Amino acid sequence: MAGDKRYKIIEATMRRHGYQGHGLIEALHSAQEAFGYLDDFTLKHIARTLHLPPSKVFGVATFYNLFTLKPQGAHTCVVCLGTACYIKGAREVLAAIEDEYDVKAGGTTRDNQLSLLTARCFGSCALAPVITFDGETIGKVAPTTAAQQIAQRLATVRQTA
Ligand code: FES
Repeated sequence: MAGDKRYKIIEATMRRHGYQGHGLIEALHSAQEAFGYLDDFTLKHIARTLHLPPSKVFGVATFYNLFTLKPQGAHTCVVCLGTACYIKGAREVLAAIEDEYDVKAGGTTRDNQLSLLTARCFGSCALAPVITFDGETIGKVAPTTAAQQIAQRLATVRQTA
């Protein structure tokens, strides 16, 4: 987590609200925009930082359907559609992955191996367009190679499983 710029984005939001509980929804928004979804680790991090019980943070995250919890796929790919990435072709990258894996953004492949999501900015704009695979940042992806880069990682995790 140290050095992950996405946590700095969430941190800035919490700081803006004086690390008070009333900034919870904003913090969750920031987290979702930075990660594409909310996972247990991030929710617990927010709870700790805002001095809120985890049950409260999980409750809010599950109550509002504008928040997406960690998807059901065994692996997760998130495509950044923030401005810098968009300008550098993120839409085409997303379309290429959707085509290759026959899945739409927000969905999971039929074999449950890959969930595909979008985010607003990972804080790594210099590497645009950026995607993540299971949290690993992959920068300067091209529509022609994005699906292949995911396939390689899927093959690697299968070998080591
Ligand atoms: S806009 Fe994609 S990382 Fe910032």
